[in-house]
Amino acid sequence: MTSLSAVLKRNAQSAQEIVTLSTAANPTVGVFVGATSGIGENTAYAFAKYTPYPRIYIVGRNVDAGNRIVAKLQTINPNTQATFHRHDMTLISQADAFSQTVLEQEKKVNLLFLSPGFLALSGRTESAEGIDTKMAINYYGRWRVVEKLLPLVEKAAESEENARVVSVLAPGTEGPVNMNDLDLKHNYSLFNVNRHFTEFNSLAVVRFAQLYPKIGFLHAGPGIVNTGIGRELPWYVRVAVKPFTFFATRPQDSGERFFYIAQGSPDYRTGSHIIDGNFKSLKEKFTERGYLTPQLQETVWKHTEDMFNEALAKSSK
Ligand SMILES: NC(=O)c1ccc[n+]([C@@H]2O[C@H](COP(=O)([O-])OP(=O)(O)OC[C@H]3O[C@@H](n4cnc5c(N)ncnc54)[C@H](OP(=O)(O)O)[C@@H]3O)[C@@H](O)[C@H]2O)c1
Repeated sequence: MTSLSAVLKRNAQSAQEIVTLSTAANPTVGVFVGATSGIGENTAYAFAKYTPYPRIYIVGRNVDAGNRIVAKLQTINPNTQATFHRHDMTLISQADAFSQTVLEQEKKVNLLFLSPGFLALSGRTESAEGIDTKMAINYYGRWRVVEKLLPLVEKAAESEENARVVSVLAPGTEGPVNMNDLDLKHNYSLFNVNRHFTEFNSLAVVRFAQLYPKIGFLHAGPGIVNTGIGRELPWYVRVAVKPFTFFATRPQDSGERFFYIAQGSPDYRTGSHIIDGNFKSLKEKFTERGYLTPQLQETVWKHTEDMFNEALAKSSK
């Protein structure tokens, strides 16, 4: 396990290394989807802290939080250009609308950081586009943004700058999925949905890293971090899990650790990485078990494209 002090040291060193790359004329661009709270918010703060000239996109639904964070980013580094973008990322049409904004405004993206999420015990809940909202927030919405913005991430890679895509979730529960019901229309349970979106994120990371060898792709778990992720859980569940928060990582420390894998450390510059909250690689285990095969990657991505098309057809009605 890499200690927090080693992480802080490496992050500070990385700031020195990019002074010639991150300039007023060539800002370093970070897109943070799901950053009005928690891990996304705090990783954006670390990005502002260690980047000489950062340009930061904050995405979420909470306007007050978004505006507060944009103002704080400015105080962390006065060179920061930050904007808040209000979008519901359970909707593919909203993922497209946001991506279009970035495509119109940027020539490259150095970091695509995806950490939108919520915890709820409810069963399958379909968005207006017909996708279960837990699957959409944890997988389909995230990877729609990745698909759309990859050309810009590739531009950063071509200039020998940091170019990474990080999906923050909970690797570790990859495993067999229901091949006859990939979007779980008929076989929904909290266990199944967790397995499907975890497996799908890991498959996507491995698939895209092969297609884009100059970009680093990560599916990374945070461990337990003291954020607002449980705010939608019933009160009795929140009371029951309260003791665990004493052992939880502070959000600011988590932000430093995520900046480390997302920009600071050269170890994740290219390739695919599936890592837990202690930076331990899980990829080998799931490769050996046959959960990351090229065939699965293609089948699930083809399904993903079909879901995008069906969702967009519904939203345009
Ligand atoms: N914290 C932990 O211990 C832990 C452990 C394992 C995994 N994770 C995973 O890590 C990720 C980040 O969690 P966190 O702890 O940072 O949680 P958090 O503090 O609750 O942040 C979640 C973010 O997602 C955004 N979000 C939720 N629904 C959205 C929607 N429909 N559209 C757009 N944005 C939406 C929220 O913004 P708005 O409310 O403004 O929309 C918020 O900015 C989640 O996927 C979580 O499951 C966390």
